[in-house]
Amino acid sequence: MNLHLLTSLLVTLTNAAFETQQHWIDNGRADIRRAWASVPNYNLAQNVILMVGDGMGVSTVTAARIYKGQKLGKYGEDYKLAFEDFPHLALSKTYNLDRQVPDSAGTAVAMVTGVKVNMGTLGLTGEVPYQKNCSQVREDRKLKSVLDYALEEGKSVGIVTTTRVTHATPAAAYAHVPHRDWESDADMAGIPGCEQVKDIAYQLIMDNPNINVILGGGRQAFINNSSSGGKRQDGRDLRENWKRHRASSGLRYAYVETKADFDQINPDTADYLLGLFELSHMTYELERNASKEPSLTEMVDKAIRILKKNPKGFFLLIEGGRIDHAHHDNLGKKALEETVEFDNAVRKVTELTSADDTLTVVTADHSHVFTIAGYPRRGHNILGIVDDMPENEMPVDKMPLLTLGYTNGPASKRVNYTEVDTTDNNFKQPGCVQMPWETHGGEDVAIYAQGPMAHLLHGVHEQSYIGHVLMHSACLGEYKNDCDLDKREKMKSGFCGTSRPVSSIIVILGVLFKVVLDMELL
Ligand SMILES: *[C@@H]1O[C@H](CO)[C@@H](O)[C@H](O)[C@H]1NC(C)=O
Ligand SMILES: *[C@@H]1O[C@H](CO)[C@@H](O)[C@H](O)[C@H]1NC(C)=O
Ligand SMILES: *[C@@H]1O[C@H](CO)[C@@H](O)[C@H](O)[C@H]1NC(C)=O
Ligand SMILES: *[C@@H]1O[C@H](CO)[C@@H](O)[C@H](O)[C@H]1NC(C)=O
Ligand SMILES: *[C@@H]1O[C@H](CO)[C@@H](O)[C@H](O)[C@H]1NC(C)=O
Ligand SMILES: [Zn+2]
Repeated sequence: MNLHLLTSLLVTLTNAAFETQQHWIDNGRADIRRAWASVPNYNLAQNVILMVGDGMGVSTVTAARIYKGQKLGKYGEDYKLAFEDFPHLALSKTYNLDRQVPDSAGTAVAMVTGVKVNMGTLGLTGEVPYQKNCSQVREDRKLKSVLDYALEEGKSVGIVTTTRVTHATPAAAYAHVPHRDWESDADMAGIPGCEQVKDIAYQLIMDNPNINVILGGGRQAFINNSSSGGKRQDGRDLRENWKRHRASSGLRYAYVETKADFDQINPDTADYLLGLFELSHMTYELERNASKEPSLTEMVDKAIRILKKNPKGFFLLIEGGRIDHAHHDNLGKKALEETVEFDNAVRKVTELTSADDTLTVVTADHSHVFTIAGYPRRGHNILGIVDDMPENEMPVDKMPLLTLGYTNGPASKRVNYTEVDTTDNNFKQPGCVQMPWETHGGEDVAIYAQGPMAHLLHGVHEQSYIGHVLMHSACLGEYKNDCDLDKREKMKSGFCGTSRPVSSIIVILGVLFKVVLDMELL
């Protein structure tokens, strides 16, 4: 049976079940109560978690919400992702120092260091241009990240991603290179003047020996090019360097590259964990072999259990990194499935931590040119073609319109989708302009936050402000001695805020005064 017909039939059958007037009244009242109950949390953040859905623009969040709801047998539009329950929300202006529409390196640096820099660069100030040239790299142009500052305060730190651990977003937390592609020494071989600048994998292992948890893909940049898939030309096996360092310091550690070994790790007895599950990126969630690779949620679970043993707390950077890759290939369903798994990871974070002492910020580095269009009926398959189109609103070529689309990208031109399974895992929504890869989008992305000082995310912010909130909440870096701890204590005890008892007294005095006035007693 025709797939699209089937979906519209199902929708027609369930049309009668739309929400009643009373539902919206109850729903609105519940939201009012929730908003009233939301009080700012002035605690000192013990733990700080930054979760980046790479490329997870607002249209992706909306489509993923509908997609996840529909997978659960609901209409989808009214479904809520885990992070959509966070009490604080803001917008992030994602542009790079030198680009209107940004890339992932510059944006990630903004978020973890609090400073906007040039597209494509990692951990270096805006004086350093994006180029395969080291002449502008200088010690005093290196930026410190919230990961560095957390380590300085004795916190545990970790990085979890579905991309290569040397890819732009994770590398922003620890590396300093003028070109994000320098993941192994082979990627920067033969460039004169770069002898002092090391590749990203080298910097991760040799310059950052204290990172507790590193989980993701990207083994290729760590191993010699004589071993299959390896890229390194310096003869090093950085996995061995990592193990040797820990062994010689008497630390409790484990290196894993299979799901079976990963499952064996007891987070109570391991303080350091390096997991490199693929030579390159980890596989898309839709194609993941669960007996070979852990999911993002499983990695997050293990990471938090390892990190939370530290009484001084932890910083964790989590990236759902392949939402972006799927979009670049116009693979809408894969992008949504990656977003759903990212949301599962957010739920795991909320289960394993408390909003009392843990600031969790969920955001995207940038958007994509991804759209949700037409006027499909309520509950219509988000991966489908727009149903119920009046004849005079049909596309001029008379071929069906897809709900999801891109304004550019590699997918072939529009065709007649009537007999096409648009719900296939590898179906590509077409881009209007043919490009080798679909591009990022330049509009703002959302920031969702809960926990100590999350209310500081409250409007339209520069993306770099996220780094400031992360540091300020936990008194790190820039804010080590300037994080308003006294003021926070006062706000908590209600002396200088509008605490309920104080404001009630003011209201009562006001009412009495008015009564006195009305009675013309004065
Ligand atoms: C690097 O840049 C400097 C200054 O812009 C230039 O003099 C030098 O030739 C460049 N090096 C390479 C290898 O291109
Ligand atoms: C690394 O690979 C090269 C060949 O590409 C080989 O000659 C060399 O012995 C290897 N080094 C180590 C330490 O395995
Ligand atoms: C491997 O590395 C060696 C240097 O150690 C280099 O000469 C050789 O070209 C590399 N091989 C490949 C396949 O990249
Ligand atoms: C999944 O991985 C396991 C372990 O490597 C392998 O035995 C199995 O064949 C794989 N399954 C699929 C469907 O590829
Ligand atoms: C699209 O395909 C359907 C079914 O194959 C067909 O009925 C319809 O006429 C086609 N539309 C166009 C514009 O070719
Ligand atoms: Zn990105």
